[in-house]
Amino acid sequence: MSAQKPIKRVSVPDVRNRKGGEPLVCLTAYDAPMARLLDPHCDVLLVGDSLGMVVHGMDTTIGVTLDMMILHGKAVMRTAKQALVVIDLPFGSYESSPQQAFDSASRALAETGAQAVKIESGVYSGETIRFLVERGVPVMGHVGLRPQAALNEGGFKAKGRSKGERDIALAEARAADEAGAFAIVIEGVAEDLAREITEAVSVPTIGIGASAACDGQILVTQDMLGLFDWTPKFVKRYGDLSGVIEEAIARYADDVRARRFPDAAQTYAMKRSDR
Ligand code: KIV
Repeated sequence: MSAQKPIKRVSVPDVRNRKGGEPLVCLTAYDAPMARLLDPHCDVLLVGDSLGMVVHGMDTTIGVTLDMMILHGKAVMRTAKQALVVIDLPFGSYESSPQQAFDSASRALAETGAQAVKIESGVYSGETIRFLVERGVPVMGHVGLRPQAALNEGGFKAKGRSKGERDIALAEARAADEAGAFAIVIEGVAEDLAREITEAVSVPTIGIGASAACDGQILVTQDMLGLFDWTPKFVKRYGDLSGVIEEAIARYADDVRARRFPDAAQTYAMKRSDR
């Protein structure tokens, strides 16, 4: 029998019940070591399809496949023990019919062990979200700037500058809420629109580039840790990961060139040659 107290994982109802309460702390996670570090601090870890750009060097998320999402989802689930883990359904894996969405979502949940999926939910997605939720799939919506629409829009464009765009973002959020989504990501909208959406829906909103007027926040982890030269304007850099890595690599290269070996590596080399 184990003497350790089991860690209780954040559940879908726990997240839903945080509407208007303590803000939800959310970050993206794509691999096991990073998920281990983030897990104790986060309510939600999102295996976002942003992994196509962050990990695989793609220009957009359009080329990300369901198999890629499942591979990264499995890695995250090996070390994330307390946060709710959400898997993004990638472009092309859910839009053609509710049945297609269910097939993709059920694979994502069954093969990774994650607790929910996220879809970039246009107004048309209400039917799909309802179909999934009725069949036991918890769904997080995603409105405003939807990165999977980048080809149509000529890039990643903030939303809500015109009355038409505001009405669409609001309608997207209402559709997701009415269909049973347990939370809704709002991306790339101004504070007044984020507040209006947050007040209009019954579930928590999670902002990214959408001001503090949401029920929680999410960022791409590598952006906030400072891994890249460029980060979106709304991202505060909480670290200088690229500086730390560059400095460490430079020291390693100096050691190699000077034939300086750390003690442990010497020992290992000797043990191998003793065999
Ligand atoms: O793919 C992603 O990482 C996302 C978040 C940034 C919300 O959708």
